[in-house]
Amino acid sequence: DSVRTIAIDGPAGSGKSSVSKEVARRLGYGYLDTGAAYRGLAWHALEHGIDTSDSSAVLDVVGDFDYAISLDPDDYWVRVGSTDVTEAIREPRVADAVSGVARVPAVRASVTALFRALVAASTRAAVVVEGRDITTVVAPDAPVRILLTAAPEVRAVRRSKEVATQDAAAVAAALHKRDASDAKVVDFLTAAPGVTVVDSTDLDFEETVEAVLAVVRAGL
Ligand code: C5P
Repeated sequence: DSVRTIAIDGPAGSGKSSVSKEVARRLGYGYLDTGAAYRGLAWHALEHGIDTSDSSAVLDVVGDFDYAISLDPDDYWVRVGSTDVTEAIREPRVADAVSGVARVPAVRASVTALFRALVAASTRAAVVVEGRDITTVVAPDAPVRILLTAAPEVRAVRRSKEVATQDAAAVAAALHKRDASDAKVVDFLTAAPGVTVVDSTDLDFEETVEAVLAVVRAGL
């Protein structure tokens, strides 16, 4: 049997990553954080001293992008070459550079092929794949497709709790800027036909996990 995909999209700060990881854990499924690949590529480009707003320069480093990610929700890590970048890809400099990398169509095509191969190679029955274009581009035929949203103010508050080193206003500004650049490339704020919306604005973490689990159970 082929590995099934649980597709979850949403904006930054929607709780997408932590909720997807927990859902995978509870169901014994794999977990794939696609944003981490784009972040890894942005990190790689920055390491090479490349201007990430220069598409052709970005494309030059995609060729030697040696990327590995764990699909185990209980042992999550990301590597570029022999470097563990699990922590480094969360740095603000990477977050600021990532949209520039992610908007290059050839980059998206190559990373999308990588995601499909990673899911196909999983030994689990299903993989929870989260990102911006999973329900529409990476896995439009997935048996379960969810858009996880939350009001912008709530997302900014959640993200500033995660990034405690910066002040809340700076975090909110950076998040909205990144959403605006990302939204030019993929529409992750409206649900495509057949995609179930879970709005976490008034839900806590556990309630959001329960809501997503209910959609998954109904769809499989
Ligand atoms: O989900 P996360 O915030 O870690 O994603 C980092 C960045 O990767 C996003 O801001 C976006 O530019 C890009 N991304 C994307 N398509 C995806 C997942 C992430 O363009 N499926």
